[in-house]
Amino acid sequence: MSDDLKAQVGEAALEYVRDGMKLGIGTGSTAEAFIRALGKAVANGLSVVGVPTSIRTAELCKSLNIALTTLEETPHLDLAIDGADEIDPQLNLIKGGGGALLREKIVAAAADDMLVIADDSKLVDTLGAFDLPIEVNEFGLASTMSKIEQSAASCNVSGALKVREGSDGQPFVTDGGHLIVDASFGRIADPEGLASALVTVPGVVEHGLFTGLASSAIVAASDGIRIVTAK
Ligand code: A5P
Repeated sequence: MSDDLKAQVGEAALEYVRDGMKLGIGTGSTAEAFIRALGKAVANGLSVVGVPTSIRTAELCKSLNIALTTLEETPHLDLAIDGADEIDPQLNLIKGGGGALLREKIVAAAADDMLVIADDSKLVDTLGAFDLPIEVNEFGLASTMSKIEQSAASCNVSGALKVREGSDGQPFVTDGGHLIVDASFGRIADPEGLASALVTVPGVVEHGLFTGLASSAIVAASDGIRIVTAK
């Protein structure tokens, strides 16, 4: 998506933000476009407080004078606004391409509603073309990966698992100090079933299937912006 389309989506998301709101603030390039729009609104007098979903997002918010809080101080949020890697017609999502899925999911679950911001390339009929990020504890990695395979197989899903690496070739480490396993599962026919199965694996901290969290999405395309609601 072009920076211009991202900026348009970021501005459009601002229409859902009301004075006094407690926001969950997402991670990724689309979320950053929203954060920049939010920063301008704050400079013009909008009063909100946000929980950032990553250190990167926190730093950008601070640079724009967006007031931040924590879920300890503010356990209940009005609205979480975040990007996604894939979006199905029920607004089930794959997230975690940026490695922030754990905090993103905790924040989305703490909010009354989640608004997704994305371009139309993220819309799919069935999740799974994008590798599913699974956040795992480093301890017992090989055993955990084997159990992930078994658990996926119980949902008729299989595919290569790869430990994510950073640009330095070393394992990517999340803000929570964990690793990410990217799973090339392909078509995920039953996201809720796979989500339930994966969380039973010891060592799995969280996974990037977001089911039942988002009720609407602002989707940008070359011919404009539209609102998609869960079918
Ligand atoms: C971050 O961990 C992800 O969940 C992002 O929300 C997702 O990767 C979308 O990122 P972009 O907006 O950069 O495509």
